[in-house]
Amino acid sequence: MNDSNSDSHEDAPKRDLYPNELAPTSGNREADPTLPWLAALDLNEVDPGLAERLTSAPESETFAKEVLVGNRILAVIFEGGHWYAMDGICAHQGGPIAEGHVADGCVTCPWHGWQYELATGKQTINQQPLQSVFPIRQNGSVIEVQMTE
Ligand code: FES
Repeated sequence: MNDSNSDSHEDAPKRDLYPNELAPTSGNREADPTLPWLAALDLNEVDPGLAERLTSAPESETFAKEVLVGNRILAVIFEGGHWYAMDGICAHQGGPIAEGHVADGCVTCPWHGWQYELATGKQTINQQPLQSVFPIRQNGSVIEVQMTE
């Protein structure tokens, strides 16, 4: 094997380092007053004008970004004026949910097209809650989530 013949995928993050499937599943988006809020991302660090754009046109703007919170990859998504936090690794074969198409309250995985409801994590065809979802809120420019570890 020739080490100098590097594959472009070798530099990609190794997704199996973050075994989301070992974390508890959650279909609950209700905030739990006993749990801390964890910072997921700061909108000002993504784009200094992003928070203002989302606030000024909440119905027309969409946003999705993959973040690591604790040891879990999340897809943080804004659509239709609401924030959503969903397990960032697709239940099918591990596709990057945050890179999917977001519309009409759903995200479509970019790898094979499985589609999930943002609010429930249910796969839209079989209505099974395959993706965990979590409480999420905006606190100034910081997007925060709650998770049980
Ligand atoms: S990995 Fe997401 S649809 Fe296949």
